[in-house]
Amino acid sequence: MTPAPRIQAPEALADEELDRSLRPRRLVDFVGQDALKDQLAVSIAAAASRGEALDHVLLAGPPGLGKTSLAQIVAAELDVPFVQTAGPALERKGDVAAFLTALEPRSVFFVDEIHRLPRALEETFYPAMEDRCLPITVGQGAGARVVTLELPPFTLIGATTRTGLLTTPLRDRFGIQHRLEHYGAEDLARIVRRSARLLDVAVEDGGAVAIAQRSRGTPRVANRLLKRVRDYAEVRDRGIVTAPVAQAALDLLQVDEEGLDRLDREILRAICEKFSGGPVGLSTLAVAVGEERDTIEDVYEPYLLQRGLIERTPRGRAATRRAYAHLGLEAPGPLSLL
Ligand SMILES: Nc1ncnc2c1ncn2[C@@H]1O[C@H](COP(=O)(O)OP(=O)(O)OP(=O)(O)O)[C@@H](O)[C@H]1O
Ligand SMILES: [Mg+2]
Repeated sequence: MTPAPRIQAPEALADEELDRSLRPRRLVDFVGQDALKDQLAVSIAAAASRGEALDHVLLAGPPGLGKTSLAQIVAAELDVPFVQTAGPALERKGDVAAFLTALEPRSVFFVDEIHRLPRALEETFYPAMEDRCLPITVGQGAGARVVTLELPPFTLIGATTRTGLLTTPLRDRFGIQHRLEHYGAEDLARIVRRSARLLDVAVEDGGAVAIAQRSRGTPRVANRLLKRVRDYAEVRDRGIVTAPVAQAALDLLQVDEEGLDRLDREILRAICEKFSGGPVGLSTLAVAVGEERDTIEDVYEPYLLQRGLIERTPRGRAATRRAYAHLGLEAPGPLSLL
């Protein structure tokens, strides 16, 4: 049940620490995603006034958009315990039973990366979610029998970067489902200003906007960039994040005006130059840029798609005209795209 210890680069640990320190604690601190917040606020108030557990919630969307934060916020707003695990950490039915039977009534049970739950375990969740019971087999052979454990009422919050990998029966058992989309520059600027306040960084509005525009629509990226820009402002300037300081720092970090980082551009360049604009399969592309296929699909592709720089076709990924223009390359022949 305990996940195997993962050895993490110091950078990843620092990122996690930053995530934790800047995480919004209440719904009012969570910037943007207004439709989702309104919906949750009503459901939370209704569940609380009835003294019931909130419906199960499924949160989908690319990394760093606030799924974990929201799950914790829901528990805080309901004033109930928050218990957290992740799909890959659950291996056997006993692991799930240990978690569920130990929950205090109405707790939030958060399963991160729920799409990586072993298939055989999914079925364990069905009766648990629907009827709050868990049939388990005790004993072996001829003496084996099925005992049904009663579970306390609880709210399962599942987070996934890929809804497509969830089976329909599992997905259907979530009463509240929401997909988090990339944030607009205005929301991101608000997030940068909020984080700057918490980190005690002096940021001018222009500086916040400059960072927001290059954060690939992702709060986690905005926070990370803010930290790096602050370093630059302290070393090369007066410590104040103005628009020119932010721009210079982001240029140094090789984040371009479209918010693309080095790997984003490498992906585009590979499609345009090595594969003549595509379509090219994701695995081939991953090998060409030396990155994991999953990372490209979860982290990079959603933003490139959203910016209209690549297109998904049945035969793979293809570059659009905008991609060529962005790289300063001449687009070949008649492209059917954008
Ligand atoms: N709406 C928001 N308002 C303010 N800050 C936010 C918001 N969304 C995310 N953040 C910030 O971004 C960081 C990353 O968010 P979070 O860890 O919740 O993302 P996630 O969707 O769970 O990512 P992953 O898929 O990688 O687990 C948080 O620590 C928080 O500081
Ligand atoms: Mg998370």
